[in-house]
Amino acid sequence: MMDMTNDELNKVLLHSQAHIWNHIFNFINSMSLKCAIQLGIPDIIHKHGQPMTLSELVAVLNINQFKTFCVYRLMRILVHSGFFVKQKVSENKEEDGYLLTPASRLLLKDEPLSVRPFLLAMLDPILTKPWHHLSQWFQNGNPTPFDTAHGRTFWDYVGHEPKLNHFFNDAMASDAELVTSVVVKDCKGVFEGLNSIVDVGGGTGTAAKAIADGFPHLQCTVLDLPHVVAGLQGTKNLNYFGGDMFEAIPPADAVLLKWILHDWSDEESVKILKRCKEAIPSRDKGGKVIIIDMMVENEKGDDESIETQLFFDMLMMVLFTGKERNEKEWAKLFFDAGFSDYKIIPILGLRSLIEVYP
Ligand SMILES: C[S@@+](CC[C@H](N)C(=O)[O-])C[C@H]1O[C@@H](n2cnc3c(N)ncnc32)[C@H](O)[C@@H]1O
Repeated sequence: MMDMTNDELNKVLLHSQAHIWNHIFNFINSMSLKCAIQLGIPDIIHKHGQPMTLSELVAVLNINQFKTFCVYRLMRILVHSGFFVKQKVSENKEEDGYLLTPASRLLLKDEPLSVRPFLLAMLDPILTKPWHHLSQWFQNGNPTPFDTAHGRTFWDYVGHEPKLNHFFNDAMASDAELVTSVVVKDCKGVFEGLNSIVDVGGGTGTAAKAIADGFPHLQCTVLDLPHVVAGLQGTKNLNYFGGDMFEAIPPADAVLLKWILHDWSDEESVKILKRCKEAIPSRDKGGKVIIIDMMVENEKGDDESIETQLFFDMLMMVLFTGKERNEKEWAKLFFDAGFSDYKIIPILGLRSLIEVYP
């Protein structure tokens, strides 16, 4: 800084100010997207079937007539963030029309792999409130900022608040739908030789249902907390079991842990993994644990993927006692829990499938 010209100093100053502004207002991307989803904008444009002009969009949106002029501004930021594109409607029409992008298509209400429930749950005020308590949490003795904000753990809260319980289970189910659609199609080998599998923390059974349908010879069990599986009906090769994974896991050839260990600290994760090891046979009899979770700090990621993984790591700190782990940290968990080896299959975008052997 010392030997900079006045011009260079001004440039650095203004660039730094812009960088700070961008970070102060990062949440505006999330909130604008949430608003568009709540107003049903992607569904309306999808139903229109061709590029939809602003006036056509405004005409069908259920909004106050004095706010219609603001829709353009909402759409402009969402075009910028990649959720809509503008395209010429026809030669004789001046106005461009909006079209969906692959990302907004994945937010449609009726899209089978929709990320909409996940977005609405994660941006619900119950889950965003703890962020306002992050610095306070660093200075107090609470296990998570969620506890600081709400006076109880996340799991206690969902166990007692049916609205959050449903929101959260739907969010997880929507993700399970997307992930298992890839795993069942492209990772058949993972299930080869297995006769039974237990999906630990399997929620309402979306992943297990897809596995049970894809591999009808496989006996699938979903273990989750009693309030999550209450009243759920099994099928010929799928059953539900209300219990606590820290206490006992029903025996099976393999255990699936999808998005489980990142919720928990190292000590808690080792405990869960030890219960898994007790539930499965030895390696030569085909026993294994199948983990679907993130593997951070692998060099391949682009800037956006790396940032998203860092977001998830912070989220695990704010809501739970967990974290996202790099390979060394994963390996330490496996060996501390008494497993002998593991294999990483990086086929799930930001997440990996890891097979862990006794
Ligand atoms: C992040 S969700 C993942 C759900 C599902 N595996 C998926 O990926 O869609 C974590 C799950 O662990 C369950 N869970 C939390 N504590 C548990 C416990 N002590 N025993 C069994 N399941 C538990 C939750 O109810 C929830 O369904």
